[in-house]
Amino acid sequence: MNKALKHSVTRRVIYSTLASLLIAGLFYGGYSYYFLKSAYETSEASNASFQYGLGELSDKLRASEALNNDLKTLLQARQQEKEAIGQQVQSLSSTVSILDKLSKTDKQLLEKYSSVYFLNENYVPPTLSSIDASFLNRQDKPVQILAGIAQHLADLLNSAKTAGIQLQVLSGYRSFGTQQSLKASYKTVYGSGTANSFSADQGYSEHQLGTAVDFTTPLIGDTFSGFSKSSAYAWLTANAYLYGFNLSYPKNNTHFVFEPWHWRYVGVELAKKLHDENKSLYELDQREIDTYLVKFFD
Ligand code: DAL
Ligand code: ZN
Repeated sequence: MNKALKHSVTRRVIYSTLASLLIAGLFYGGYSYYFLKSAYETSEASNASFQYGLGELSDKLRASEALNNDLKTLLQARQQEKEAIGQQVQSLSSTVSILDKLSKTDKQLLEKYSSVYFLNENYVPPTLSSIDASFLNRQDKPVQILAGIAQHLADLLNSAKTAGIQLQVLSGYRSFGTQQSLKASYKTVYGSGTANSFSADQGYSEHQLGTAVDFTTPLIGDTFSGFSKSSAYAWLTANAYLYGFNLSYPKNNTHFVFEPWHWRYVGVELAKKLHDENKSLYELDQREIDTYLVKFFD
């Protein structure tokens, strides 16, 4: 083969190879274009669907947040209602407890007697309790007091004992009949004028309530002589109010002579007020006294 022919064959081979490569390139390019285009379209579609789904989810989230807030508000309202009902129940039960206490507390227990007010001759304390014999001045003379105040008196006597004070009880509850006999005998011995200065008529004595106590000491006994100068009286003056007792007839009272031995239980709260204000029960207005009746046995 001559040289020119060889060249011509080589050129044809090169051209046909180039042509083949060009055709193959065009096919590959076209294919790639359609592949990428379709992939792009698919991704666009799924993106749009994703965006749509996202929007739907946000809407649902917002709706559930609104629902959540509504439920919270509802819950708060229910809690407030519950608290209000709880308060009403508490106030009702406290009213019931007050009424229950008042129904068990005789109005007479805080009324003023002595010489102005008359205690019905049929009045007898609902329950009486005997004072421990170890605290009595006369072992042969049992003493009773209103059962509801027995613990307060026992606490007072034990406290005095712990403080080294020899405090004893000489008298407590006295019935209408007992007071009548006692007063009659005083009148016989001392005459009416003197008897009236230290002894109440039947129906006027605080002793008929079962809440008045006459204290003494082993040495002084039933004469009460010098009791106002005793350490027992000093101790009572400083401490009796803590146990609900108040001195009924202090110096210069308008009913009887000064009776340092005669103390009446009026309830711890009222006794504290009287002690703090240095007053006797008879100096207070009855309406004000009555407000303490509900706390009488506390
Ligand atoms: N000694 C007092 C006043 C009474 O008899 O009740
Ligand atoms: Zn007395």
